Amino acid sequence: MSTRITTPDRLSERSVKQYRRQGFIHVPQIISTAEAAKFHAAALSATERLSEKDYAKNKVFTQIVNVWQEDETMRQLTLHPNVGAVAEKLAGIPLRIWHDHMLIKQPHNKVATEFHQDLPYWPHGNTRHTLSAWIALVDVPVERGCMTFISNAHTRSDLRPQNLLDEGDLLSLWPELAWHERVTIPLKAGDCTFHHGLCPHMATSNETDQARFAHVIIFMDASTTYTGAKHVITDPLDLAVGAPLDGPLFPRASA
Ligand code: SIN
Ligand code: NI
Repeated sequence: MSTRITTPDRLSERSVKQYRRQGFIHVPQIISTAEAAKFHAAALSATERLSEKDYAKNKVFTQIVNVWQEDETMRQLTLHPNVGAVAEKLAGIPLRIWHDHMLIKQPHNKVATEFHQDLPYWPHGNTRHTLSAWIALVDVPVERGCMTFISNAHTRSDLRPQNLLDEGDLLSLWPELAWHERVTIPLKAGDCTFHHGLCPHMATSNETDQARFAHVIIFMDASTTYTGAKHVITDPLDLAVGAPLDGPLFPRASA
């Protein structure tokens, strides 16, 4: 199997078109297997070092938000130039980092992350594009909690946030989705998927003995402004409605 890193130059125009048409794309080896092992070790030590007040833990996953601001090694992953450059090629516009989060599904957690869109959760105005890089730091077969995406459905921005614990919530808002193709993408450590902020997606439960470590980096249009809606990232910042989400807390995806 090839261990070549997927750089922007190696990402074909066909793949970019596919991402824009279907709302998601599988990118093998966005980082190398060796880098994935290094970041997995750093992720493990960060979870041991940070106390429970620093993260949210529920049955779906343990979530550590903005780990790039807490851990020097994880910062290298969130600010990884290859990840940011591929994201900008897919989006076709300059991007900033909105936030990262480490999402850990504990062994045998038994609980799926149910279908939802991401963008309704975020206080983003003036935005043309948001997308997330979901990077596997360990091998993630279907049984360990990989992602499933609904194709050609990143079109609706009129829906309220959907409940990650309710299997039927998104479909109750959008029944037509039942007839769209679903694509499940198991990932090797170092592989990633990118998905558009409006693309409906879910993740299976972890039925294995090993924790699932995913590092998710969320990129937003570099011109995004703040709507004033509540969010854990912006609540402490005392921003005016309409203020740009820029500066050192929201770094550019590529220099
Ligand atoms: C998950 O990894 O469990 C869900 C990730 C996402 O919703 O983006
Ligand atoms: Ni999501």
